[in-house]
Amino acid sequence: MANVVVVGAQWGDEGKGKIVDWLSERADVIARFQGGHNAGHTLVIDGKVYKLHVLPSGVVRGGKLSVIGNGVVLDPWHLVKEIATVREQGVDISKETLMIAENTPLILPIHGELDRAREEAASKGTKIGTTGRGIGPCYEDKVGRRAIRVADLADPATLEARVDRALQHHNPLRKGLGMPEVNREELIAQLAEIAPQVLEFAAPVWKVLNEKRKAGKRILFEGAQGALLDIDFGTYPFVTSSNVIAGQAATGVGIGPGSIDYVLGIVKAYTTRVGEGPFPTELDDADGERLGTRGHEFGTTTGRKRRCGWFDAALVRQTCATSGITGISLTKLDVLDGFETLKICVGYELDGERLDYLPTAADQQARCKPIYEEMDGWSESTEGARSWNDLPAAAIKYVKRVEELIECPVALLSTSPERDDTILVTDPFAD
Ligand code: IMP
Repeated sequence: MANVVVVGAQWGDEGKGKIVDWLSERADVIARFQGGHNAGHTLVIDGKVYKLHVLPSGVVRGGKLSVIGNGVVLDPWHLVKEIATVREQGVDISKETLMIAENTPLILPIHGELDRAREEAASKGTKIGTTGRGIGPCYEDKVGRRAIRVADLADPATLEARVDRALQHHNPLRKGLGMPEVNREELIAQLAEIAPQVLEFAAPVWKVLNEKRKAGKRILFEGAQGALLDIDFGTYPFVTSSNVIAGQAATGVGIGPGSIDYVLGIVKAYTTRVGEGPFPTELDDADGERLGTRGHEFGTTTGRKRRCGWFDAALVRQTCATSGITGISLTKLDVLDGFETLKICVGYELDGERLDYLPTAADQQARCKPIYEEMDGWSESTEGARSWNDLPAAAIKYVKRVEELIECPVALLSTSPERDDTILVTDPFAD
């Protein structure tokens, strides 16, 4: 397999960082294709912890090309800071190792301000619980054809015209929210100052990746967030503003859909969610607390406590379908160690009827009651297991039942944050 897409199959935070890092050793190119610095990917390599938000995980491995594709929204000031942080940790970043698509839209300070102002102004029930990073407003400007893109930074006259176009939209909007007008000259000066530090990495990514593909190089597409936060197929409107599902890998860098050979879905052995929105299997009790504590469920980007609940097989079956997932990587199985009984959601009850998927209408989603199947837990530790023989019979039974219910095989099983604590069933990059 030449090209592998990694996507989160729940609401994000499934443990993609470790798996992407594990696979990136075998890849030549690692590409981000959606999202922005709302993501938080933690990598633990030889005990050293790297926290990445917008840089592809490949940057921490020498000799790889890391790519930020046009599907990403890029905050240039954040980018420069993140590069400085990882450089301080000894990571080599140059224009040979990092490329940014010229058609990537830029997140401006006004996007973050708008994001936060809207959240503050939202009434109960309408708040999204965003990361406040300006992701939504930037994607709105992209679709509204008024975004400033990386290539615009190269020409002062174009940049000024783009700023004026954006402000024509933003100033009236800000006025309505009681925010001050944007200082045009200051914004232009800020952009002009940061421009060289971004342009250093600018490249026609679509062209470079197509050449790499023709040369037989292996491309790893690194998804951020999770399929249930997808703008089309997630729990709308409590979603992020990009397509998160695997199909976005193609449009988010400019490569044909036929170039994708394997889609690996990352699936946590239970469920978590940050921010607002429906969560049928959420636990508000001691079991939920226990999952959160054992699983260290706090957001990498915002530090917020994640909501926790039982594994929802109906939802993952759905995301396996919408992303065309070939195989999954099941993560954090060890967090379930010591539970006497485990529950798996197999479908929902809605107004007396049984459904095997979560309906689209928000009011129906809110009324769906999970239908559970109970399984025996295990008392032994699975932490650090590296082969099936290291797992108790009840844990194997749980994994097999997950596979059956989601109708997708397990390719990898991750049993700790350490990269080698992984049980390999199928190598997504194997021919
Ligand atoms: P936004 O992406 O900042 O607009 O936030 C929209 C929703 O997506 C909120 O519920 C966030 O908590 C959630 N979200 C965004 N990025 C991540 C992530 O990397 N992991 C988990 N949830 C995320």
